[in-house]
Amino acid sequence: MEHDFWHKKWSDGKIGFHQKEINPYLQSYWQRMGLKGDEKVFVPLCGKSRDMLWLREQGHEVLGVELNATACEAFFSENDAEPVMVESGNFTSHSIDGIDVLCGDFFNLTQEDLLGVTAVYDRAALIALPLEMRAKYVDHLQKILSTTAKILLITLEFDEQSGPPFSVSADEVEALFGKQFEIKCLDRVQPDDPRDAGRHEVTWLLQGKRG
Ligand SMILES: C[S@@+](CC[C@H](N)C(=O)[O-])C[C@H]1O[C@@H](n2cnc3c(N)ncnc32)[C@H](O)[C@@H]1O
Repeated sequence: MEHDFWHKKWSDGKIGFHQKEINPYLQSYWQRMGLKGDEKVFVPLCGKSRDMLWLREQGHEVLGVELNATACEAFFSENDAEPVMVESGNFTSHSIDGIDVLCGDFFNLTQEDLLGVTAVYDRAALIALPLEMRAKYVDHLQKILSTTAKILLITLEFDEQSGPPFSVSADEVEALFGKQFEIKCLDRVQPDDPRDAGRHEVTWLLQGKRG
């Protein structure tokens, strides 16, 4: 998926993926990560997700990465915050107390950028990418992440016409993460709305095998 695709989504305001409310699966299942509460949490492809505010409220330090500058700026302005902005290498960091959003390409992140990160929250990141990019995304994530990290991952399964979002099956989650992570399915929900027939929202807990 090319960068221009996402920049156009943001400039056209076609951001149906953005949730005004905090994600219900995050709220229900974050405690299953078994964290103390002060860990640093990485939020890949974060958009302007308010879930980052919820994670900070739990005591975490949050590190997001987002390609689109408007999205990065909107996250702070819509939440009445004025970030300190610092350009460094491939990224412009936007930070306030407890939250740092790096504006730039996820694939340019290095291990150094993720130093101290012990948990990841992936909502609408993996499923935003087409098949071949999903493998590259997981490969890169595993390269830059501590081997002991845990991931809360939310996927969708449905009869896919064209994405994003893309349907990601349990078999694919296993194929992508199974070598390095213990995988537990925490929940598999079929939404009530008849228009969502055949659709499932799935929450996964991934624990680094060397953790
Ligand atoms: C489907 S949206 C999900 C956003 C957010 N996770 C949420 O729950 O609202 C995917 C986001 O990833 C961003 N994105 C796409 N490719 C990226 C990349 N290579 N690096 C960083 N961000 C990227 C897009 O601009 C978009 O905001």
